[in-house]
Amino acid sequence: MIRGSKRVFSRSDMAHPQEAPLFSTALFPLASRRALLFLRFAVPAIAVALLFASPASLAQSSPKKIIIDTDPGTDDAIALLLAFHSPEVQVQAVTVVAGNVPVEMGLDNALRVTSLVGRCDVPVAKGASRPLLEPPATGLFWNGPGGMGGAQLPSPKCQADSSFGPDLIIQLVHKYPHEITLVPIGPLTNIALAVRKDPTIVPLVRQVILMGGGITGGNVNAVAEYNVHSDPEAADIVFNAGWPLTMVGLDVTEITLVTDEDVSKLEQHPGPETSFIATVLRYQIGTYKGTGIFHGGAIHDALAVGAAIDPTFLTTQDMRVDIETRGQFTRGMTVANRKNVVEKETMVDGHAEAIGVTPVQPNVHVATGIDAPRFVSFLLSRIGNH
Ligand code: BDR
Ligand code: CA
Repeated sequence: MIRGSKRVFSRSDMAHPQEAPLFSTALFPLASRRALLFLRFAVPAIAVALLFASPASLAQSSPKKIIIDTDPGTDDAIALLLAFHSPEVQVQAVTVVAGNVPVEMGLDNALRVTSLVGRCDVPVAKGASRPLLEPPATGLFWNGPGGMGGAQLPSPKCQADSSFGPDLIIQLVHKYPHEITLVPIGPLTNIALAVRKDPTIVPLVRQVILMGGGITGGNVNAVAEYNVHSDPEAADIVFNAGWPLTMVGLDVTEITLVTDEDVSKLEQHPGPETSFIATVLRYQIGTYKGTGIFHGGAIHDALAVGAAIDPTFLTTQDMRVDIETRGQFTRGMTVANRKNVVEKETMVDGHAEAIGVTPVQPNVHVATGIDAPRFVSFLLSRIGNH
């Protein structure tokens, strides 16, 4: 019988309901009947599943291999800590891009964070020092002195990897085909450079989960979000590459806020990481509240990492999203088609005549909803206590 799209099996569906049992319970005491049922039904099912499991599906049960491309950055630092404290993901590399801070400072900050968590085994590589076309635009106001809210971390013990960030991305994607999830949380320059240099990585990447964009407004101006606005040409390449892409934009990150009360709870478990996190978050909270628009601090980038750990924090809608690279007021906007259709026109007597609608192919899973309280308490539970 078929109910909806799900196939529901009944006993009469079985090809040979009368066929002799594989394991006869008569031969075994009653107590072992459950075990027999397990052997009879579960074991063959597991065997068949293993037989047909592709390497990609097997990899799903092991930690997800991620590369974080970042411009640390207050919320970038929180995102890195979340990743390092989450067994569901395995950070294969951290690549640094110019953004919130100049790339040299970003590299130093990333190394300080990896040193703080004792993860010098993770390569940290410097990438692009400027967007593809324009000079860099840094964000001292949002990130504070040194880019991490004025927090003072000791000089890094970890050393930078000698590779160029985009080259390291290319190398790791080929090393782990279909296993790498890219998590870009800064301007998209490094990712675009990697795609341009070696387009064969695109079908080998498992998915891209980026923090950037927004379909209901911007934070640099009315419509553009910082990461996309900083390098729209790079974003254009990344959004049109043809890989599975989830956009975790301002629509969800600006409604997921950390408060002073949250930080006070964290501080009940003092430690070197806690004190760093508290300084970063308090800076973030103060800045965001200071705008008069927010009641807490946004931790944008942590949501992209969160979505890599557990996609159920978000609800998404598939949409066609294009990057505006020209507009007088709209450069850097993520232009989302929420209906996935456009008008179909034909030329009649020298003018365009609408003759219906025609579908457009979605290219992005757009995050449109978030369970914000669940995410914030998850984040705090992961990064607290260290
Ligand atoms: C994004 O811009 C940066 O300032 C943050 O780190 C985040 O990646 C939010 O628009
Ligand atoms: Ca960032």
